Amino acid sequence: MRVIVARFAPRCPPSKPQQQQHLPHLHLLLRRRIASSALVLEPPPPPPPARRGLPAPPLIAGRFARTTVAVDASSRSRLPPARTIMTSAASQRLAGKTILITGASSGIGRSTALEFARTSPNDLRLVLTARRVDALRDLADQIRNEVGQGVKVLPVKLDVSNADEIRGFVACLPEEWRDIHVLVNNAGLVKGVARAPDIDEQDMDVVFSTNVTGLINMTQAILPIFQGRPGGGQGDIINVGSIAGREAYPGGSIYCASKAAVRSFTDTLRKELIATRIRVIEIDPGQVETEFSLVRFYGDKAKADAVYAGVEPLTPDDIAEAIVFTATRRENVVIADTLIYPNHQASALIMHRKNV
Ligand SMILES: NC(=O)c1ccc[n+]([C@@H]2O[C@H](COP(=O)([O-])OP(=O)(O)OC[C@H]3O[C@@H](n4cnc5c(N)ncnc54)[C@H](OP(=O)(O)O)[C@@H]3O)[C@@H](O)[C@H]2O)c1
Repeated sequence: MRVIVARFAPRCPPSKPQQQQHLPHLHLLLRRRIASSALVLEPPPPPPPARRGLPAPPLIAGRFARTTVAVDASSRSRLPPARTIMTSAASQRLAGKTILITGASSGIGRSTALEFARTSPNDLRLVLTARRVDALRDLADQIRNEVGQGVKVLPVKLDVSNADEIRGFVACLPEEWRDIHVLVNNAGLVKGVARAPDIDEQDMDVVFSTNVTGLINMTQAILPIFQGRPGGGQGDIINVGSIAGREAYPGGSIYCASKAAVRSFTDTLRKELIATRIRVIEIDPGQVETEFSLVRFYGDKAKADAVYAGVEPLTPDDIAEAIVFTATRRENVVIADTLIYPNHQASALIMHRKNV
Protein backbone atom coordinates (compact mmCIF):
# COMPACT_ATOMS: atom_id res chain seq x y z
CA MET A 1 0.00 0.00 0.00
CA ARG A 2 1.28 3.46 -0.87
CA VAL A 3 1.61 5.50 2.23
CA ILE A 4 1.78 9.22 2.60
CA VAL A 5 2.80 11.23 5.60
CA ALA A 6 2.54 14.99 5.82
CA ARG A 7 3.95 16.94 8.64
CA PHE A 8 3.24 20.60 9.07
CA ALA A 9 4.92 22.27 11.93
CA PRO A 10 4.09 25.89 12.44
CA ARG A 11 4.01 27.57 15.82
CA CYS A 12 0.75 26.64 17.61
CA PRO A 13 -1.39 28.65 17.21
CA PRO A 14 0.36 30.13 14.18
CA SER A 15 0.46 33.86 13.79
CA LYS A 16 -1.29 35.28 10.74
CA PRO A 17 1.88 36.19 8.78
CA GLN A 18 3.19 32.66 9.41
CA GLN A 19 -0.05 31.10 8.17
CA GLN A 20 0.18 33.19 5.02
CA GLN A 21 3.77 32.15 4.58
CA HIS A 22 3.38 28.37 5.19
CA LEU A 23 -0.09 27.32 4.09
CA PRO A 24 -0.03 28.03 0.33
CA HIS A 25 3.37 26.36 0.19
CA LEU A 26 2.10 23.28 2.03
CA HIS A 27 -1.02 22.94 -0.05
CA LEU A 28 0.94 23.19 -3.24
CA LEU A 29 3.42 20.66 -1.98
CA LEU A 30 0.68 18.24 -0.89
CA ARG A 31 -1.16 18.51 -4.18
CA ARG A 32 2.01 17.82 -6.16
CA ARG A 33 3.17 14.92 -4.01
CA ILE A 34 -0.19 13.26 -3.60
CA ALA A 35 -0.82 13.53 -7.34
CA SER A 36 2.34 11.53 -7.98
CA SER A 37 1.53 9.05 -5.15
CA ALA A 38 4.93 9.72 -3.75
CA LEU A 39 5.82 9.97 -0.11
CA VAL A 40 5.16 13.41 1.28
CA LEU A 41 7.40 14.06 4.17
CA GLU A 42 7.96 17.51 5.49
CA PRO A 43 10.06 17.59 8.66
CA PRO A 44 9.47 20.50 10.98
CA PRO A 45 11.79 23.44 10.38
CA PRO A 46 14.97 23.43 12.46
CA PRO A 47 14.83 25.36 15.72
CA PRO A 48 15.82 29.03 15.43
CA PRO A 49 19.59 29.51 15.64
CA ALA A 50 21.15 30.61 18.90
CA ARG A 51 21.42 34.37 19.08
CA ARG A 52 24.56 36.14 20.30
CA GLY A 53 26.08 32.96 21.62
CA LEU A 54 23.04 32.13 23.75
CA PRO A 55 21.73 28.54 23.58
CA ALA A 56 18.68 27.96 21.37
CA PRO A 57 15.39 28.39 23.26
CA PRO A 58 13.98 25.12 24.61
CA LEU A 59 11.31 23.40 22.59
CA ILE A 60 7.97 23.70 24.27
CA ALA A 61 5.59 20.77 24.28
CA GLY A 62 2.58 21.50 22.14
CA ARG A 63 4.41 24.05 20.01
CA PHE A 64 4.26 21.84 16.95
CA ALA A 65 1.20 20.35 15.38
CA ARG A 66 1.34 17.24 13.23
CA THR A 67 -1.09 16.19 10.57
CA THR A 68 -1.00 12.56 9.48
CA VAL A 69 -2.50 11.86 6.09
CA ALA A 70 -1.51 8.20 6.07
CA VAL A 71 1.34 6.09 7.39
CA ASP A 72 4.46 4.79 5.73
CA ALA A 73 6.30 2.37 7.99
CA SER A 74 9.29 2.25 5.66
CA SER A 75 9.71 6.01 5.87
CA ARG A 76 9.77 6.24 9.63
CA SER A 77 13.51 5.79 9.92
CA ARG A 78 13.97 8.94 7.87
CA LEU A 79 11.79 11.00 10.14
CA PRO A 80 13.44 13.18 12.72
CA PRO A 81 12.79 11.77 16.22
CA ALA A 82 9.27 12.55 17.43
CA ARG A 83 9.03 15.44 19.81
CA THR A 84 8.63 14.31 23.41
CA ILE A 85 5.72 15.82 25.31
CA MET A 86 7.04 16.62 28.77
CA THR A 87 5.04 14.95 31.52
CA SER A 88 5.18 15.36 35.27
CA ALA A 89 6.78 12.72 37.49
CA ALA A 90 3.29 11.97 38.81
CA SER A 91 1.99 11.33 35.33
CA GLN A 92 4.95 9.09 34.46
CA ARG A 93 4.50 7.03 37.61
CA LEU A 94 0.87 6.37 36.75
CA ALA A 95 1.43 5.56 33.09
CA GLY A 96 0.17 2.10 32.15
CA LYS A 97 -1.49 1.51 35.50
CA THR A 98 -4.99 0.31 36.33
CA ILE A 99 -6.75 2.07 39.20
CA LEU A 100 -9.78 0.61 40.95
CA ILE A 101 -12.00 3.01 42.91
CA THR A 102 -14.98 1.96 45.00
CA GLY A 103 -17.81 4.44 45.52
CA ALA A 104 -16.91 6.37 42.37
CA SER A 105 -20.47 7.47 41.59
CA SER A 106 -20.36 10.51 43.88
CA GLY A 107 -18.31 12.77 46.14
CA ILE A 108 -14.71 11.86 46.91
CA GLY A 109 -14.63 8.72 44.74
CA ARG A 110 -15.96 10.57 41.72
CA SER A 111 -13.44 13.42 42.16
CA THR A 112 -10.65 10.88 42.62
CA ALA A 113 -11.44 9.26 39.27
CA LEU A 114 -11.32 12.66 37.57
CA GLU A 115 -8.10 13.63 39.32
CA PHE A 116 -6.35 10.41 38.27
CA ALA A 117 -7.52 10.92 34.69
CA ARG A 118 -6.31 14.53 34.64
CA THR A 119 -2.97 13.59 36.18
CA SER A 120 -2.25 10.80 33.69
CA PRO A 121 -4.38 11.48 30.62
CA ASN A 122 -2.36 9.42 28.14
CA ASP A 123 -2.14 5.87 29.40
CA LEU A 124 -4.39 4.87 32.27
CA ARG A 125 -7.21 2.46 33.03
CA LEU A 126 -9.88 3.29 35.60
CA VAL A 127 -12.20 0.64 37.00
CA LEU A 128 -15.00 2.63 38.58
CA THR A 129 -17.42 0.85 40.88
CA ALA A 130 -20.57 1.71 42.85
CA ARG A 131 -24.20 0.65 42.98
CA ARG A 132 -25.43 3.53 40.76
CA VAL A 133 -23.94 2.38 37.49
CA ASP A 134 -25.66 5.14 35.46
CA ALA A 135 -23.73 7.75 37.41
CA LEU A 136 -20.53 5.80 36.64
CA ARG A 137 -21.37 5.80 32.93
CA ASP A 138 -21.93 9.57 33.04
CA LEU A 139 -18.57 9.96 34.74
CA ALA A 140 -16.92 7.78 32.07
CA ASP A 141 -18.39 10.08 29.41
CA GLN A 142 -17.15 13.14 31.24
CA ILE A 143 -13.62 11.71 31.49
CA ARG A 144 -13.64 10.78 27.79
CA ASN A 145 -14.82 14.27 26.81
CA GLU A 146 -12.24 15.91 29.01
CA VAL A 147 -9.08 13.89 28.40
CA GLY A 148 -9.84 11.79 25.31
CA GLN A 149 -9.09 8.15 24.65
CA GLY A 150 -5.84 7.96 26.66
CA VAL A 151 -7.82 7.06 29.77
CA LYS A 152 -9.90 3.92 29.43
CA VAL A 153 -12.80 3.65 31.85
CA LEU A 154 -14.70 0.55 32.89
CA PRO A 155 -17.84 1.27 34.94
CA VAL A 156 -18.82 -1.77 37.04
CA LYS A 157 -21.87 -2.15 39.25
CA LEU A 158 -20.68 -3.39 42.61
CA ASP A 159 -22.25 -3.36 46.05
CA VAL A 160 -19.31 -3.70 48.44
CA SER A 161 -21.63 -4.71 51.27
CA ASN A 162 -22.40 -7.89 49.33
CA ALA A 163 -19.59 -10.39 49.94
CA ASP A 164 -20.75 -12.63 47.06
CA GLU A 165 -20.45 -9.79 44.56
CA ILE A 166 -16.91 -9.05 45.70
CA ARG A 167 -15.95 -12.72 45.59
CA GLY A 168 -16.73 -12.94 41.86
CA PHE A 169 -15.57 -9.42 41.04
CA VAL A 170 -12.01 -9.93 39.74
CA ALA A 171 -12.86 -13.07 37.77
CA CYS A 172 -15.66 -11.17 36.01
CA LEU A 173 -13.40 -8.36 34.86
CA PRO A 174 -12.21 -8.58 31.25
CA GLU A 175 -8.66 -9.93 31.35
CA GLU A 176 -6.96 -6.68 30.30
CA TRP A 177 -8.56 -4.95 33.30
CA ARG A 178 -7.38 -7.37 35.98
CA ASP A 179 -3.83 -6.10 36.40
CA ILE A 180 -4.83 -3.63 39.10
CA HIS A 181 -2.08 -1.44 40.59
CA VAL A 182 -4.00 0.91 42.89
CA LEU A 183 -7.05 0.11 44.99
CA VAL A 184 -8.90 3.10 46.45
CA ASN A 185 -11.25 1.77 49.13
CA ASN A 186 -13.52 4.79 49.26
CA ALA A 187 -17.12 3.47 49.36
CA GLY A 188 -18.62 4.34 52.70
CA LEU A 189 -21.54 5.93 54.46
CA VAL A 190 -23.30 6.58 57.71
CA LYS A 191 -26.96 6.29 58.59
CA GLY A 192 -28.47 8.49 61.28
CA VAL A 193 -27.17 10.07 64.45
CA ALA A 194 -28.89 7.73 66.89
CA ARG A 195 -27.32 6.94 70.25
CA ALA A 196 -27.42 3.62 72.04
CA PRO A 197 -29.82 2.02 72.90
CA ASP A 198 -31.80 3.49 69.95
CA ILE A 199 -29.52 2.56 67.09
CA ASP A 200 -31.43 0.89 64.29
CA GLU A 201 -30.20 -2.64 63.68
CA GLN A 202 -30.47 -2.28 59.93
CA ASP A 203 -28.43 0.95 59.94
CA MET A 204 -25.79 -0.83 61.97
CA ASP A 205 -25.63 -3.66 59.42
CA VAL A 206 -25.43 -1.32 56.43
CA VAL A 207 -22.67 0.81 57.96
CA PHE A 208 -20.50 -2.11 59.05
CA SER A 209 -21.03 -4.24 55.94
CA THR A 210 -20.09 -1.27 53.73
CA ASN A 211 -17.38 0.57 55.68
CA VAL A 212 -15.71 -2.38 57.38
CA THR A 213 -16.37 -5.81 55.89
CA GLY A 214 -16.84 -4.28 52.43
CA LEU A 215 -13.42 -2.62 52.64
CA ILE A 216 -11.76 -5.75 54.03
CA ASN A 217 -13.37 -8.00 51.40
CA MET A 218 -12.27 -5.68 48.59
CA THR A 219 -8.74 -5.67 49.98
CA GLN A 220 -8.71 -9.46 50.16
CA ALA A 221 -9.98 -9.70 46.58
CA ILE A 222 -7.27 -7.43 45.15
CA LEU A 223 -4.29 -8.22 47.39
CA PRO A 224 -3.39 -11.50 45.60
CA ILE A 225 -2.93 -9.49 42.37
CA PHE A 226 -0.45 -7.22 44.16
CA GLN A 227 1.28 -10.17 45.83
CA GLY A 228 1.83 -11.85 42.47
CA ARG A 229 4.27 -9.11 41.47
CA PRO A 230 8.05 -9.31 41.99
CA GLY A 231 9.76 -8.35 45.24
CA GLY A 232 7.08 -9.94 47.39
CA GLY A 233 4.42 -7.82 45.74
CA GLN A 234 3.67 -4.32 44.55
CA GLY A 235 0.65 -2.01 44.51
CA ASP A 236 -1.14 0.64 46.52
CA ILE A 237 -4.03 0.21 48.90
CA ILE A 238 -5.53 3.58 49.76
CA ASN A 239 -8.20 3.43 52.44
CA VAL A 240 -10.49 6.38 53.02
CA GLY A 241 -11.00 6.59 56.76
CA SER A 242 -12.23 9.66 58.64
CA ILE A 243 -11.52 11.98 61.54
CA ALA A 244 -14.33 9.92 63.08
CA GLY A 245 -11.97 6.94 63.24
CA ARG A 246 -9.58 8.94 65.43
CA GLU A 247 -12.03 10.78 67.60
CA ALA A 248 -15.40 9.46 68.72
CA TYR A 249 -18.27 11.93 69.09
CA PRO A 250 -21.82 11.65 70.48
CA GLY A 251 -24.29 10.63 67.78
CA GLY A 252 -21.52 9.11 65.68
CA SER A 253 -21.18 5.81 67.45
CA ILE A 254 -21.62 3.31 64.61
CA TYR A 255 -19.78 5.50 62.10
CA CYS A 256 -16.92 6.25 64.51
CA ALA A 257 -16.64 2.57 65.38
CA SER A 258 -16.59 1.58 61.71
CA LYS A 259 -13.87 4.11 60.82
CA ALA A 260 -11.82 3.13 63.87
CA ALA A 261 -12.00 -0.41 62.52
CA VAL A 262 -10.74 0.84 59.15
CA ARG A 263 -7.85 2.52 60.92
CA SER A 264 -6.95 -0.62 62.84
CA PHE A 265 -7.21 -2.82 59.78
CA THR A 266 -5.06 -0.41 57.75
CA ASP A 267 -2.33 -0.25 60.40
CA THR A 268 -2.32 -4.03 60.76
CA LEU A 269 -2.12 -4.56 57.02
CA ARG A 270 0.85 -2.21 56.68
CA LYS A 271 2.69 -4.21 59.31
CA GLU A 272 1.76 -7.56 57.79
CA LEU A 273 2.98 -6.46 54.36
CA ILE A 274 6.25 -5.01 55.60
CA ALA A 275 8.38 -7.39 53.49
CA THR A 276 6.65 -6.36 50.25
CA ARG A 277 6.59 -3.23 48.12
CA ILE A 278 2.86 -2.86 48.71
CA ARG A 279 2.04 0.58 50.10
CA VAL A 280 -0.78 0.82 52.61
CA ILE A 281 -2.13 4.34 52.92
CA GLU A 282 -4.89 5.94 54.93
CA ILE A 283 -6.54 9.26 54.13
CA ASP A 284 -8.69 10.69 56.92
CA PRO A 285 -10.83 13.62 55.81
CA GLY A 286 -12.47 16.10 58.16
CA GLN A 287 -15.64 17.71 56.94
CA VAL A 288 -16.22 17.41 53.18
CA GLU A 289 -19.37 18.55 51.41
CA THR A 290 -20.69 15.61 49.39
CA GLU A 291 -23.84 13.47 49.44
CA PHE A 292 -22.56 12.07 52.73
CA SER A 293 -24.87 14.14 54.97
CA LEU A 294 -27.85 13.62 52.67
CA VAL A 295 -27.35 9.86 53.05
CA ARG A 296 -26.84 10.25 56.80
CA PHE A 297 -30.18 12.07 57.17
CA TYR A 298 -32.06 9.62 54.91
CA GLY A 299 -32.45 12.20 52.09
CA ASP A 300 -33.54 15.15 54.29
CA LYS A 301 -31.85 18.02 52.45
CA ALA A 302 -32.60 20.69 55.06
CA LYS A 303 -30.85 18.64 57.75
CA ALA A 304 -27.95 17.90 55.40
CA ASP A 305 -27.54 21.58 54.50
CA ALA A 306 -27.56 22.57 58.18
CA VAL A 307 -24.36 20.55 58.68
CA TYR A 308 -22.51 22.97 56.41
CA ALA A 309 -24.19 26.21 57.62
CA GLY A 310 -21.66 28.93 58.42
CA VAL A 311 -18.62 26.80 57.61
CA GLU A 312 -16.53 26.29 54.54
CA PRO A 313 -16.10 22.54 54.24
CA LEU A 314 -13.52 20.78 52.12
CA THR A 315 -14.53 19.85 48.59
CA PRO A 316 -14.26 16.28 47.30
CA ASP A 317 -11.57 17.57 44.92
CA ASP A 318 -9.42 18.53 47.92
CA ILE A 319 -9.40 14.92 49.09
CA ALA A 320 -8.98 13.56 45.58
CA GLU A 321 -5.81 15.61 45.16
CA ALA A 322 -4.41 14.12 48.36
CA ILE A 323 -5.29 10.59 47.28
CA VAL A 324 -3.63 11.00 43.89
CA PHE A 325 -0.62 12.63 45.55
CA THR A 326 -0.05 9.55 47.72
CA ALA A 327 -0.34 7.23 44.72
CA THR A 328 2.13 9.21 42.64
CA ARG A 329 5.09 9.44 45.02
CA ARG A 330 8.29 7.61 44.26
CA GLU A 331 7.70 3.93 44.93
CA ASN A 332 9.84 4.00 48.09
CA VAL A 333 7.75 6.79 49.64
CA VAL A 334 4.70 5.84 51.69
CA ILE A 335 2.40 8.62 52.84
CA ALA A 336 1.07 6.24 55.45
CA ASP A 337 -1.41 8.51 57.20
CA THR A 338 -3.04 11.83 56.42
CA LEU A 339 -5.57 13.89 58.39
CA ILE A 340 -7.13 16.68 56.35
CA TYR A 341 -9.25 19.49 57.82
CA PRO A 342 -10.83 22.56 56.31
CA ASN A 343 -9.44 25.76 57.79
CA HIS A 344 -12.15 26.21 60.43
CA GLN A 345 -12.08 22.67 61.79
CA ALA A 346 -9.80 21.49 64.61
CA SER A 347 -11.44 18.22 65.68
CA ALA A 348 -14.51 16.14 64.90
CA LEU A 349 -16.79 18.67 66.57
CA ILE A 350 -14.72 21.85 66.93
CA MET A 351 -15.76 23.99 64.00
CA HIS A 352 -15.75 27.75 63.84
CA ARG A 353 -19.13 28.77 62.40
CA LYS A 354 -19.76 32.27 61.03
CA ASN A 355 -23.15 33.97 61.36
CA VAL A 356 -24.86 31.05 63.03
N1 LIG B 1 -18.02 13.72 53.44
C1 LIG B 1 -17.35 13.73 54.57
O1 LIG B 1 -17.45 14.68 55.38
C2 LIG B 1 -16.42 12.59 54.89
C3 LIG B 1 -15.52 12.77 55.96
C4 LIG B 1 -14.65 11.74 56.27
C5 LIG B 1 -14.68 10.58 55.54
N2 LIG B 1 -15.56 10.41 54.51
C6 LIG B 1 -15.55 9.14 53.81
O2 LIG B 1 -15.35 9.37 52.43
C7 LIG B 1 -15.87 8.27 51.69
C8 LIG B 1 -16.67 8.81 50.52
O3 LIG B 1 -17.78 9.50 51.02
P1 LIG B 1 -18.32 10.86 50.34
O4 LIG B 1 -18.18 11.91 51.35
O5 LIG B 1 -17.74 11.03 49.01
O6 LIG B 1 -19.88 10.52 50.29
P2 LIG B 1 -20.87 10.27 49.05
O7 LIG B 1 -20.88 11.44 48.14
O8 LIG B 1 -22.16 9.86 49.68
O9 LIG B 1 -20.21 9.03 48.29
C9 LIG B 1 -20.23 7.75 48.83
C10 LIG B 1 -19.91 6.77 47.74
O10 LIG B 1 -19.92 5.45 48.33
C11 LIG B 1 -20.70 4.62 47.51
N3 LIG B 1 -21.31 3.55 48.28
C12 LIG B 1 -22.07 3.61 49.39
N4 LIG B 1 -22.47 2.40 49.75
C13 LIG B 1 -21.96 1.53 48.85
C14 LIG B 1 -22.03 0.14 48.67
N5 LIG B 1 -22.70 -0.66 49.51
N6 LIG B 1 -21.40 -0.42 47.62
C15 LIG B 1 -20.71 0.37 46.77
N7 LIG B 1 -20.60 1.67 46.87
C16 LIG B 1 -21.23 2.25 47.90
C17 LIG B 1 -21.75 5.52 46.88
O11 LIG B 1 -22.16 4.96 45.64
P3 LIG B 1 -23.58 4.28 45.35
O12 LIG B 1 -24.59 4.93 46.26
O13 LIG B 1 -23.81 4.55 43.91
O14 LIG B 1 -23.36 2.83 45.63
C18 LIG B 1 -20.95 6.78 46.63
O15 LIG B 1 -20.29 6.70 45.39
C19 LIG B 1 -16.65 7.43 52.67
O16 LIG B 1 -15.87 6.32 53.04
C20 LIG B 1 -16.84 8.37 53.86
O17 LIG B 1 -17.00 7.67 55.05
C21 LIG B 1 -16.42 11.41 54.18
